[in-house]
Amino acid sequence: MRDVHQEIAHWLEPLGAIIGIDAAGNFRAAYAANETSASRLLIGSHLDTVPNAGCFDGILGVVLAVAILQALESRRLPYAIEIVGFSEEEGVRFGVPFIGSRALVDRLDDDLLNVQDARGISVRKAIQDFGLDPHKIGTARLPADACAYLEFHIEQGPVLESLGLPLAVVEAIAGQTRSELAFLGRANHAGTTPMDLRFDAVAAAAEWITTVERIAKQTPGLVATVGSVETKPGATNVIAGEAHVSLDVRHHDNAARVQAAKQISLQAAQIADRRGLKISQTQGLNQPSVAMDPFLSDQLEEAISKAGCKPHRVVSGAGHDAMILAEKIPSAMIFLRTPGGISHDPAESVAVEDVAKAIECGLHFLDQMAASPNFLSRTCRA
Ligand code: HGY
Ligand code: MN
Ligand code: MN
Repeated sequence: MRDVHQEIAHWLEPLGAIIGIDAAGNFRAAYAANETSASRLLIGSHLDTVPNAGCFDGILGVVLAVAILQALESRRLPYAIEIVGFSEEEGVRFGVPFIGSRALVDRLDDDLLNVQDARGISVRKAIQDFGLDPHKIGTARLPADACAYLEFHIEQGPVLESLGLPLAVVEAIAGQTRSELAFLGRANHAGTTPMDLRFDAVAAAAEWITTVERIAKQTPGLVATVGSVETKPGATNVIAGEAHVSLDVRHHDNAARVQAAKQISLQAAQIADRRGLKISQTQGLNQPSVAMDPFLSDQLEEAISKAGCKPHRVVSGAGHDAMILAEKIPSAMIFLRTPGGISHDPAESVAVEDVAKAIECGLHFLDQMAASPNFLSRTCRA
C-alpha cells in the first residue's frame, strides 16, 4: 500500500495536488479550485483487492482520476477536486468491507476498530502498525465542502461486453449480506467410524452449500456464494469435527435479500440439528442496496453521449465505496466494460480504448459540473 501511495503521489505532485494519508490509511489528494470555492468533487475508488486478483478492480478508478486531472493540463475549475484511494474496501482481511470509506462518513467506530483478523490483529492495531493514529480517525471525515463523489470502476461482469458498450452509468448498487458459519460435529477416525455413527462437519456443510445454490437458483435476481470453506483438523483420515464457511448473499431488492439470507440461515440450523451437530452463525454485514444520485447520473449519461458512446444504465452486483459515500453526499458511478466478464482473477482486463473514452467522458462531466449552478450550490448532507 505504501508503494502504491508513493507511485500515485509521484504522478500527482507535478499537478500541484496536496497529498496526504488520512488516519484510516486512505490516500487523499486535493486539487484546488480556480478561486476559493465552496464545493469539492471527490473522485476515487479502493486500492486494496482480493487474493490472486486482477490488476484493475479498484485501482483503475484512482488511476483514471489521476489521468483526468492530468488531462485538465493545469486548468482549474470553480470547485476543488479530491482524489481518494480507499485503504480497505473488499473486506478480505477483517471480514468486514468498506473500512476506509466508512471513515469518511464517521462509521469507522470502536466496534469496527476492535474487529480482528485471522491472526488476532485488530483494525486499530493494523492502523497503528501502518504508522497512523486510530485516535485521529475523526479527522478522515468528509470535508465540509464535499458535495459529490464519482467513482469509475470496471463492471466485473458480462453485460457491457454482451451489449458492445464501453461505458455505463450505475443506477443502483445491490445490497449484500455477509456471514460466517461454523458446523461443529465431532472429529473421529475415518476408518473405524461407521457412517451412521458420524457427526461429520464437512458432510453437513456440503449438504447446506448445495441448498444455498438451490435457493439462489430459485430466486430471480439473487446471487449467493460460499467462497471459503475451512475444515478442521483437515486430515485425509480424520472425519472433520469443524467446517467454517463464508456466505455472501446479494440482491438489488433488500426484502428479497434479507428473506433469502434468513431462509439459508434456517436451513443451516435444520441440517445441523438433523445430523446432531451444533452450528454457530455470525452476520458480518447487512448492507442495504443504494441508489446513485439521479442528477449526477443524468450528467454522466450526457457526458457519455458527448464522448460518442451510447448511454446505458446498469445495477451493480458488486459492492462499491460509492454506496458508503452516498450516505453523506450525492454519489455516482461509471462502469467500464470488462472483457470476458472476468474479475477477482488475474484474467481481469480492460480495453485501452474504453479507458480513453472514460477519460473523455470524465472531462465532459467536469465541464458540465463547472457550468451547473445546481452542483455548485450543493453542500454535504448533515
Ligand atoms: O465484493 C464486492 O462486492 C466488491 O468486489 N467489493
Ligand atoms: Mn472487488
Ligand atoms: Mn471494487
